[in-house]
Amino acid sequence: MEQALEQASRIIAAAKYTVALVGAGISVESGIPPFRGPGGLWTKLGEPAMDGYQKFIADPAAWWTERLSGQDELSEFLKTLDDAKPNAAHYALAEMEQLGLLHHVITQNIDNLHQEAGGREITEIHGNRLKLRCVACGARFPLREFALEEIPPRCHECHGVLKTDTVLFGEPIPRDALWSCDYHTRRCDCMLLIGTSATVYPAAEFPIIAARGGARLVEVNPLETPLSELCQAVLRGPAAEVLPKLVERLREGAGPAGREEKP
Ligand code: APR
Repeated sequence: MEQALEQASRIIAAAKYTVALVGAGISVESGIPPFRGPGGLWTKLGEPAMDGYQKFIADPAAWWTERLSGQDELSEFLKTLDDAKPNAAHYALAEMEQLGLLHHVITQNIDNLHQEAGGREITEIHGNRLKLRCVACGARFPLREFALEEIPPRCHECHGVLKTDTVLFGEPIPRDALWSCDYHTRRCDCMLLIGTSATVYPAAEFPIIAARGGARLVEVNPLETPLSELCQAVLRGPAAEVLPKLVERLREGAGPAGREEKP
């Protein structure tokens, strides 16, 4: 691990524009189960069908009624999201951002824990559980602004139907999020792959696009993934243990080595 930490910190210190691609693994130590592998939600329930979004569009009122009943099969999982707090890995990424060593986070997580840890430069490719989004105009609103008495809730701008901002299976990724992911992926010269099985697209393709563009890859994951062999440094351990150690090394060596200014 020491050697891998040294290698990873050298790569990050030498990089001009570092982006982190983050998955469910980073929030495991916040009490949120991953989706796949040991203790995974889909390992338990089975991978969901790809028609979640079509079902929503077909009958939004029925979808909301079931979601608010607390009886749907995800209610236990959603409860873990309610109780979760950021862990040392989320804080380590926020500190790397403050040190100017991390320029953007692309997260597949809907849990809002990056923001709660102080992170700012974030794209949520699968949306945010604390927001609603209009299926007609794409406008987003904080969930807390809605009493959810009117089902389905309606957009304050165009009166369109509101759904959760989180991306349902079968739903296209919102354009603004996809554009932002593409922008930072093509701009980076270093990408950190943190707690993702790298099996769900389009997110799983970003490291490949980045590597093709010459970026160096650093993986943080207790287990091997399909992208491990593409990485120049691999840190095999839990994110909440590994990332603070990595930041400690970077903090010692920190100093802007010709880094690009934030956009
Ligand atoms: N620290 C770091 N990584 C961890 C930890 C940990 N403590 N615990 C588990 N992992 C790793 C696992 O080894 C696995 O590779 O995190 C990864 C989690 O993989 P998935 O559960 O597949 O999560 P993710 O890659 O984020 O899934 C992508 O799939 O179901 C959809 O929308 C959902 O955003 C999700 C997407």
